Amino acid sequence: MNWQVKLAPYSQVVAELKVKLRGMRAQFEYESSHSPIEFVTGRVKPVDSIIRKAEKKKIPLDQIDEQMQDIAGLRVVCQFVDDIYTVVDMIRSREDLSIIEEKDYITNKKESGYRSYHMIINYPVETIHGMKKVIAEIQIRTLAMNFWATNEHSLNYKYEGAIPSEIQTRLKKAAEAAFKLDEEMSKIKNEVQEAQRYFHH
Ligand code: GTP
Ligand code: MG
Repeated sequence: MNWQVKLAPYSQVVAELKVKLRGMRAQFEYESSHSPIEFVTGRVKPVDSIIRKAEKKKIPLDQIDEQMQDIAGLRVVCQFVDDIYTVVDMIRSREDLSIIEEKDYITNKKESGYRSYHMIINYPVETIHGMKKVIAEIQIRTLAMNFWATNEHSLNYKYEGAIPSEIQTRLKKAAEAAFKLDEEMSKIKNEVQEAQRYFHH
């Protein structure tokens, strides 16, 4: 397999979606309103991770386009939990992509404690061989969720996927603490907004 050729459309998709999602952030700034988007990152899954995941999930390498949904990955990081749903609605209403699946790991957190909103999308990209529909995963999360997930991901790497149960328990507690922080920050924001509305009337 010529991986560079295989992954070229995915690189194109990641680059295009980064520009588009960052463009949304810029537009909020021009209109000097609070941007629901703090920052956007994106990556194409490294070849060694693709191969490892294909082996683990028994996906034949000639079926990864259909069966591996996170080869193209975008991450949108927000300040507040509410912002996540604003971004989700904006992505739903876009006409340049279609949604295959949504997973709300915020109201339904994962066993590990992980929280995020995932959207699996179909994105048509123009290649030198014509239009190709590429599957991509967009993860939308708060700064606190991102902080937790980044740390948990490094620990998973360090322990090769087998985090000791005592550490797992502490990570779950840390995830709850991060979520409480998100809730408290939302409350503060809402109370301050209320107070400001009151003074301006
Ligand atoms: P994979 O987890 O990607 O094999 O497929 P899946 O069908 O189980 O999808 P899922 O929605 O569970 O996870 C997709 C992606 O979300 C992962 O590749 C990670 O980037 C992220 N993710 C899911 N669970 C966790 C978790 O417990 N910790 C961290 N740090 N990230 C997670
Ligand atoms: Mg998983």
